[in-house]
Amino acid sequence: MKKRLTLTLNPELSKNLVKTKTDCLVLGVNDGGALNTFASDIDKATKGIIGKLRKRGEFEAKVGQTAYIATNDGTSAERIFLVGLGKSSKKLSAEDLDKISSAITSGLTAKKSSNGVVCLPDKKFESENSSLNALLQKLGTALESSTYTYDAKLNKKNKKVNYLKKVSVLLESTQNISKLRKSLKTGQCIGQGMNAAKDLANLPGNVCTPSYLASTSRTASRNYQNLSCKVFGEKEMKKMGMDCLLSVGNGSAQESKLISMNYQGGKKGQKPYAIVGKGITFDTGGISLKPPATMDEMKFDMCGAASVIATMQVVAELKLPINLIGVVASAENMPGSKATKPGDVVKTMSGKTVEILNTDAEGRLVLADALTYVERFNPVSVIDIATLTGAVIMALGYSTSGLMSNNDELAKKLLEAGEKASDRAWQLPLWDVYQKDLDSNFADIANIGGRAGTITAACFLSRFAEKYPWAHLDVAGTASLKGAAKGGSGRPVPLLSQYLIDIAG
Ligand code: BES
Ligand code: MN
Ligand code: ZN
Repeated sequence: MKKRLTLTLNPELSKNLVKTKTDCLVLGVNDGGALNTFASDIDKATKGIIGKLRKRGEFEAKVGQTAYIATNDGTSAERIFLVGLGKSSKKLSAEDLDKISSAITSGLTAKKSSNGVVCLPDKKFESENSSLNALLQKLGTALESSTYTYDAKLNKKNKKVNYLKKVSVLLESTQNISKLRKSLKTGQCIGQGMNAAKDLANLPGNVCTPSYLASTSRTASRNYQNLSCKVFGEKEMKKMGMDCLLSVGNGSAQESKLISMNYQGGKKGQKPYAIVGKGITFDTGGISLKPPATMDEMKFDMCGAASVIATMQVVAELKLPINLIGVVASAENMPGSKATKPGDVVKTMSGKTVEILNTDAEGRLVLADALTYVERFNPVSVIDIATLTGAVIMALGYSTSGLMSNNDELAKKLLEAGEKASDRAWQLPLWDVYQKDLDSNFADIANIGGRAGTITAACFLSRFAEKYPWAHLDVAGTASLKGAAKGGSGRPVPLLSQYLIDIAG
């Protein structure tokens, strides 16, 4: 995985903060009370500017509040950026830590600094060292992720400049330094994973095909000794009985692929965890064609797959002591003379037959066979990740992923991981009352039905996930961004990584 930023925790620098040359000196400041050592050193050198700002009420140092000091005669920094850490007595929540880490990141990127020094008064965190570790992890992720640019398909003269190259973090003491360094590094690694997922998401559908996802997974596996990759083409899938997955690619000239990655970080014979991603490299809707207005965004319909391929690399990079299977079910959903028609009935690998009432409900079809495929690994748990329904955006908007599960303990762990990693999900019910919406007159199960689109989609998947604890993440609203920032978001790589980090202990 590409690393764009040199990020270090460097306590030695702090001895001469006033003379430290940097494009941007970021100072964490407390709300009220005496200034911390860093802030007080700079305050003295700048004729008391921080004290003045605090006194005038311009910058009270509330959590996440910011202020630039553009010129700063008296120090060697080009500019100074103040970030509020709140009152000393205030216990910082996960959301507070998010605000602080985003504020620091925005300060470093907004003025196109190429390097920066971030001063965090760890005395503020003394009573709760875990929150300093959490902050450093978040900061690592936010900084690395913020350096992402996508210009793979731009002309040479339009290539984008990535300004921020180097950031050093300073603490007041060197206590627990190796653990704190590890937190920062873990965070940065998650940021690299997000960027890898964004790269796959942003490539156009004519480049990022099922075969492209397969070759990317193969190349990634070669970089890690205990990561391997197997790819099944249409012939092999036919042999395994995956007619349901194959039906989705029937209208496409691109060959469908099932990608199976295997990470062996735990003991041999230790049961693996599994993550399964929807990899529709373009979703036209098929014969149930989508309207044209925003159809281009359906190149993002492989973001579940991207998060799986990226998370496998994060886990391998962090050398987590677990076994992990990553499966990607990939096809292109196109209309055509060979395409599946509404009313067609196909047989799944599990033996159950499906009536395809709407060819635009294709994600669940590729996942059904992938979920049956992972049974062979006898997994501890299986999480599938999919841009599955527009309805999840109606329910939760663009900030929160939908979570559904047949196992409350697993659901709880995923919700907690999302909270910790600033990549939140919210659980929707999977009650039996919704299951009958999928009754069909012509097959064992219909591929659409009912009004609760996100839940019935999960109900469909649940029929193929009966043999293990399973959770489904609907990331249709969260895996890509709209408007000026249009592009892959890198989610839910942080949630998945955090879940696996927590499991690994
Ligand atoms: N890939 C789409 C879901 C989607 C919609 C993702 C908007 C991102 C943004 C999925 O394959 C789909 O088309 N779902 C249908 C299901 C319906 C036919 C039951 C939908 O949500 O409209
Ligand atoms: Mn669709
Ligand atoms: Zn789709």
